[in-house]
Amino acid sequence: MAATATKYTLASRGQVTRDDIFYTSKLAENRTSYNAVRASIRQSVAACKLGYIDLFLLHSPYGGPAARWASWRAIEDAIRDGEVRSGGVSNFGPRHVNELMGHTDLRIKPVVNQIEAHPFNTREDIRATCARHGIVVEAYAPLVRGMRMRHPVITALSEKYKCTPAQLLVRWSLQHGLVPLPKSVRKVRMEENADVNGFKISSADLATLDALDEHLVTDWDPTNTD
Ligand SMILES: NC(=O)c1ccc[n+]([C@@H]2O[C@H](COP(=O)([O-])OP(=O)(O)OC[C@H]3O[C@@H](n4cnc5c(N)ncnc54)[C@H](OP(=O)(O)O)[C@@H]3O)[C@@H](O)[C@H]2O)c1
Repeated sequence: MAATATKYTLASRGQVTRDDIFYTSKLAENRTSYNAVRASIRQSVAACKLGYIDLFLLHSPYGGPAARWASWRAIEDAIRDGEVRSGGVSNFGPRHVNELMGHTDLRIKPVVNQIEAHPFNTREDIRATCARHGIVVEAYAPLVRGMRMRHPVITALSEKYKCTPAQLLVRWSLQHGLVPLPKSVRKVRMEENADVNGFKISSADLATLDALDEHLVTDWDPTNTD
């Protein structure tokens, strides 16, 4: 506790240490060339000037099974060599997660799968698969990119819980065990989006939110690729 308190004090004075930062980066494109991926990871480590990357993701499953596997092997070795602390995947559908976890010579499993998830696209299929393998789901576009802030169910429940629509959406993620990644360029909204511990959505209202699923894709959806 003392160490945490000291670190917080330092950070609040602007003296941020490397331990205060959790830096994630991604591989833009899966490659069948292990060496090309290792080189790309090393380039990312050098470019960030942080010494190492906390979490390195395969950005998507595109490229096919051989490219996914060669790219994952490169992440495993980058972890072994200290360039990267942990590895994960992004936009992996159930079949891609099962494929990776099914490799008998898998040495390090992905810790997260970063996918689009919110009440309008709940991705229960991917969440269930990840849960079976003990993989944490990170929810991107957790605020639906602002596209459903005025939806009548969202506004009604926000009034009920005396929170903002964004806070309701962040709570939806958290109460489903997801790690939401709300993005804002405004400090006041960053604080709002983090201030979500003062209320709890009831099970019935969570179900009401789940029922909003319209398979809305706000960006891209590579989760069904071969
Ligand atoms: N792995 C992938 O393939 C993938 C794909 C897409 C996104 N992502 C990542 O996921 C993260 C979030 O996704 P996202 O930016 O697409 O969607 P998002 O977080 O759902 O929505 C961001 C939008 O909501 C607005 N916003 C933020 N807080 C708000 C608030 N309290 N009230 C009203 N509006 C608010 C932001 O505007 P302001 O900035 O003006 O506040 C911005 O327009 C990003 O870090 C992104 O890099 C990953």
